[in-house]
Amino acid sequence: MKNILVTGGMGYIGSHTCVELIQAGLQPIIIDNLDNSEIWIKDRLEEITGAKFPFYQADCANKDVLEQVFQEHKIEGVIHFAANKAVGESVSAPLKYYNNNINSLLSVLEVSNKYNCQNLVFSSSCTVYGEPDMLPVDENAAIKQAESPYGSTKIFCETIIQDFIKSQKNYKSILLRYFNPIGAHSSSLIGELPLGVPGNLVPFITQTACGLREKLTVFGNDYNTVDGSCIRDYIHVVDLAKAHVKAFEYLFKQTQPTCTAINIGTGVGYSVLQLVQTFEQATGVNLNYEIGPKRAGDVEAVYANATKAKQLLNWESELTMEDALIDSWNWQKTLER
Ligand code: NAD
Ligand code: WQD
Repeated sequence: MKNILVTGGMGYIGSHTCVELIQAGLQPIIIDNLDNSEIWIKDRLEEITGAKFPFYQADCANKDVLEQVFQEHKIEGVIHFAANKAVGESVSAPLKYYNNNINSLLSVLEVSNKYNCQNLVFSSSCTVYGEPDMLPVDENAAIKQAESPYGSTKIFCETIIQDFIKSQKNYKSILLRYFNPIGAHSSSLIGELPLGVPGNLVPFITQTACGLREKLTVFGNDYNTVDGSCIRDYIHVVDLAKAHVKAFEYLFKQTQPTCTAINIGTGVGYSVLQLVQTFEQATGVNLNYEIGPKRAGDVEAVYANATKAKQLLNWESELTMEDALIDSWNWQKTLER
């Protein structure tokens, strides 16, 4: 069984990915400082999978801890999820974002390479495209000046990995550019745990639906789109998690240094109002919402050309937006108790 180090493995995408790794016969070894996750996620992961796995509660920027992990386990690959991800907070606390998101990557690159572990999957984001010139957006599209320090960290991290690989004989990496992950595990045992008022659409909707928030504000209805609200590519987090398994299958087959960016999205864009309507139909809940002003920094429309993922990884999304919204809602209902 190959060991995969999963930084940030207790978080939203990381926890779902650990389930898929185990189900694919890979052994996750998690390092997470629990800055944005909870210790009970570990029990939930064990409940879902029936497996046990090593967990280190630590900052993965700490090279001493990373060295310890690599000395205690023979690790064949790393998924680097660990990062701060709140776009708004990154504007008010940019140094926190540059410090954590960049330094954690530098430590992971240095220590993994020292221990001859040269397969890295990195969590990037469609945020690197900004407002794309062409839709659907493919991986050759221009990388745009980021709207936020968070977005800048993703662009810098991609560049750091590319430069590092050019300097190496064997290091291989896939930069997965996630579109908008939503949904939760169908068991309702793991899901997204937003801190404070959610900035993201779906957690705000589920919190509104259960009465924690009074109403959803739809940010703008005069964009040049089907109904005036913004368009995004909403991808079920379980589909997204599976892409990481496929990424390792690909990396383990490569014999040359490689660094390639791959979009992970459904290929279909939905508007905010279409998503709201799908949520209402799928759950039977009437959502209290109003149209409000545009949110600064929002792009009008972005959705993936996902053919590279299909060609290189043999991955494509399987679950629908409706599946994801039902799973998010079921997860939200467990949090109320
Ligand atoms: P999350 O906050 O739920 O998970 C991140 C995990 O990393 C948390 O458990 C946190 O405690 C941990 N962490 C943060 N800094 C750490 C450090 N220095 N050392 C150890 N642990 C640390 O976020 P997520 O939604 O699961 O996102 C995972 C990755 O995917 C991030 O890199 C994020 O930028 C990227 N991403 C997320 C989205 C999204 O919408 N959720 C979209 C695109 C890309
Ligand atoms: C989705 C749509 C909003 C909240 C962010 C990051 C991006 C990536 C994914 C990490 C937009 C609208 C939202 C609300 C609304 N993360 N909305 N009312 O902004 O597409 O992407 O998460 O890499 O980098 O920027 O996601 O969920 O915030 O918004 O109308 O209360 O919902 O305007 O059109 P976004 P989101």
